[in-house]
Amino acid sequence: MVAFNLPANSRIGQGQTFPAPAGAKRTREFRIYRWNPDDGKNPRMDSYNIDLDACGPMVLDALIKIKNEIDPTLTFRRSCREGICGSCAMNIDGGNTLACLKPIEEVKAEVRITPLPHMPVVKDLVPDLSQVYAQLRSIEPWLQADSPAPPDGERLQSKEERAKLDGLWECILCFCCSTSCPSYWWNGDRYLGPAVLLQAYRWIADSRDERTGERLDALEDPFKLYRCHTIMNCTDSCPKGLNPAKAIAEIKKLIVERQV
Ligand code: SF4
Ligand code: SF4
Ligand code: FES
Repeated sequence: MVAFNLPANSRIGQGQTFPAPAGAKRTREFRIYRWNPDDGKNPRMDSYNIDLDACGPMVLDALIKIKNEIDPTLTFRRSCREGICGSCAMNIDGGNTLACLKPIEEVKAEVRITPLPHMPVVKDLVPDLSQVYAQLRSIEPWLQADSPAPPDGERLQSKEERAKLDGLWECILCFCCSTSCPSYWWNGDRYLGPAVLLQAYRWIADSRDERTGERLDALEDPFKLYRCHTIMNCTDSCPKGLNPAKAIAEIKKLIVERQV
């Protein structure tokens, strides 16, 4: 029989509430997903009321403030705090994005924060990215060429060849796209998902790479590539403004073109 309810141990309860400091005039509630694999308890949403006049403008500023000043047990990833490393990806106000690039003022009511959806959780806002990194390794994301590089320099590209990599090289592997893709939610064990397919296309499109045929062979698979049904959630969610759905369409086009 199909079970329509969540297992009892995965239901999210209401956790602690931390009030705003006395005298704060401009406050905002942050409701944050908490789960600790070591305490055997269900996940919960903790509420932190923050004085916005004593906080930086971005959601990541609020998370750092909470961790430093209110609750050091709150766990999340971050590094660069300027949209370069991809590590602060999470679901904020219902959309996957980077906490360091998301202004608090863009969220009109309480700021609800959960981990990237449909990924196993390591703790609190930290998703387990093992599977997606294994998938990234599987597409061999590095330049491969048999012909030797020129003895006196680098492998050159024309301006036009280099321009084909624009919209691809900027990907920071935050996985906001893959974790917003319904096909990846349901078939993530076999479908590579938009982030990894965009990376695959980045090497297919590189004029210096000599493995285009083998790369297309490896992707020509009903699950790895063709689970993409062009729903476009991926492109809508990319915080870097990239278009993984277009990269996937280009791969499909190249596979068709080499057959005719
Ligand atoms: S376009 Fe493809 S990869 Fe993007 S969300 Fe839709 S199914 Fe997923
Ligand atoms: S395509 Fe965009 S959303 Fe997807 S991993 Fe790259 S930067 Fe993140
Ligand atoms: S902290 Fe590096 S992208 Fe947000």
